[in-house]
Amino acid sequence: MTKQQQLKETKEYLVNKGISAPEIGIVLGTGLGKLVDEIIIEQEIPYSEIPHFPQATVEFHSGKLIYGTLSGKKVIVMSGRFHLYEGYNLWEVTYGIRTIQQIGIKTLLISNAAGAINLNFKKGDLMLIEDHLNLQGSSPLAFKGAGEFGDLFADMLEPYSKKLNTKMKAIAKTNDIDLKEGVYASVVGPQLETRAEYRMLQILEVDAVGMSTVPEVIVAKHLRLPCIAISVLTDECDPKNLQPVNIQEIIDVAGKAEPKMITLFKELIKSI
Ligand code: HPA
Repeated sequence: MTKQQQLKETKEYLVNKGISAPEIGIVLGTGLGKLVDEIIIEQEIPYSEIPHFPQATVEFHSGKLIYGTLSGKKVIVMSGRFHLYEGYNLWEVTYGIRTIQQIGIKTLLISNAAGAINLNFKKGDLMLIEDHLNLQGSSPLAFKGAGEFGDLFADMLEPYSKKLNTKMKAIAKTNDIDLKEGVYASVVGPQLETRAEYRMLQILEVDAVGMSTVPEVIVAKHLRLPCIAISVLTDECDPKNLQPVNIQEIIDVAGKAEPKMITLFKELIKSI
């Protein structure tokens, strides 16, 4: 079966479930699942039931598609995303983005957990992604026939919508939320970085590092979908004071920052 046919079947399945014309798509990152509690849910579909959808593997990602109303708008939420480090290829990693774009979203909101490279930023801070470095060594558009789905030579003039970012900064200010802004680099993982890699990322003027988001944003641009992304900084990556990784702490810090993230997303959705 061709990729086109797969996507068509996935879309048809979801449309038959009554999912129609969501305005906004949301991808929820590690420890950021509570936004779902704010949604008036109409449909909740485990990824395992959706034809051609990759299956979530990491246990703290619940892996379901949620359709409903948030801040008065129809939204579709990916609760659980796919990473290269789980062994998926980049087509699979970004399949959900292609799916929700097919269903009709006009804007994409992304969240993730990331490590702070900029040491002026602290654990628990939120960072609006203003630009990115793709350090995953490949592209989700590097396959035969990619140009049939969207722009092959997708331009990256504005990977993150300036208009949405301006709005988001104003919302943060109004709600007294300290929102940092910076460059996000995506690596493959799943291992954390070495001291030398953290020093490299500092030299590259990266502000935060993580293992997601960039492939999703590249596909969004390829499909001409405006997007915005916010990182929760869950740890401070100081090469001079490297700490053992503590995944539970990363999840806990993300959880503590979650109410701020929820406020920002809800208010942005209201304003779109
Ligand atoms: N690297 C370092 N720290 C992190 C990451 C990462 O990819 N994700 C969350 N914290």
